[in-house]
Amino acid sequence: MVSATVTRRVSTIEYAIRDVVDLAKKLESKGRQVTYLNIGDPVKFDFDTPDHIKQALFRAVKSGENWYGQSEGLLELREAICRKEKRVNKIDISPENVIVTTGVSEAIFMIMAAIIEKGDEILVPGPTYPPYTSYAKFFEGKPVSYRTIEEEGWVPDLDDIESKISDKTKGILVINPNNPCGALYDKNVIARIVSLASENELILLSDEIYDRIVYEEEFVSTAHVAKDLPVIGLNGFSKTYLATGWRLGYFYFHDPEGKLEPLKDSVKRESRIRLCTNTPIQRAGVAALDGSQSHIKKMVDELRKRRNYVCKRLKEIAGISCTTPKGAFYVFPKIHDVGRRWKTDLEFASNLLEETGVLVVHGSGFCKKYGAGHVRIVFLPPIEVLESAFDMLERFMRS
Ligand SMILES: Cc1ncc(COP(=O)(O)O)c(C=O)c1O
Repeated sequence: MVSATVTRRVSTIEYAIRDVVDLAKKLESKGRQVTYLNIGDPVKFDFDTPDHIKQALFRAVKSGENWYGQSEGLLELREAICRKEKRVNKIDISPENVIVTTGVSEAIFMIMAAIIEKGDEILVPGPTYPPYTSYAKFFEGKPVSYRTIEEEGWVPDLDDIESKISDKTKGILVINPNNPCGALYDKNVIARIVSLASENELILLSDEIYDRIVYEEEFVSTAHVAKDLPVIGLNGFSKTYLATGWRLGYFYFHDPEGKLEPLKDSVKRESRIRLCTNTPIQRAGVAALDGSQSHIKKMVDELRKRRNYVCKRLKEIAGISCTTPKGAFYVFPKIHDVGRRWKTDLEFASNLLEETGVLVVHGSGFCKKYGAGHVRIVFLPPIEVLESAFDMLERFMRS
């Protein structure tokens, strides 16, 4: 008999955004139609990868660029990333400080593997994108959620961050614009977090995958604000370049004074054991960054309309309130009757799915403390799909 015992490390992994799909699949197997408002994948809706990026991928495959590449990523792509970060985010980084990864997801894994020892704490926004907490736990660390203030648009509570820094704290994570709340942090908030990290000698991680998906105010990169202080920035192609299934991302060390040198060396060694990222897709990544950017404005203009529509509908439904997201493509409304009509936000989301076929993600899947009582809804679908989903949500709330 094969012993099929599973490590505790793996058996506790959670990823609410996809875990809820099991329930939806069961419903579909009974012939019910499901509207998936759970996953942030624009390509599943009416947004498509721009043609010049697709053509670059075809060209790379056809011309035989199908070999293993350098572990840190193709030099041409790392150079293009440096140009993009300079042009868009006003950061000076050099190609030796960039590592190309199989999506930002792999970057999160690699960074957590390199910085978290057993018992180490990492401060993460509450609520947060779940892999940060899952990987911190996977490496036997302890994610500590800092409060973000819903009434102020989910901006970090700086006093709360400060009060939670302990001698075990290893780093602080910023996700800006934020998933799941759509918050956008201004320069002053970022500057204060940079100072806290610096005063306490903590590693500062900044996930900026939604840097170009903002609706009114300008996005400011953490590394730009940090000036000479070190920051590890994470970014990728899934959202801005509409290439979720291609799995291409990167992280960089903004490290003008060389403080992160030992970490950088270790991460480079770490990158070698997974050989490299997909080579032809990296060629397409160069075309994405250096080629036409015109699809971004079109996409953001369209998403703004969808965000406005969804917020208007949510504000009209009794028992729900929401802050307007300033970036990304998620809204994170509060469901007032959780704790009364529904025991938990998970029960709310499950009932909603069973009764209407609309799939959203329970807020506690993003943070048990600060996300509970909320749900995350993706506003990527065309308005007619959103209209039908919100009609059903409205009827469900009234019933
Ligand atoms: C904040 C954030 N970081 C990282 C990722 C993962 O991105 P990738 O597709 O590059 O792995 C996501 C995906 O939703 C995200 O929202």
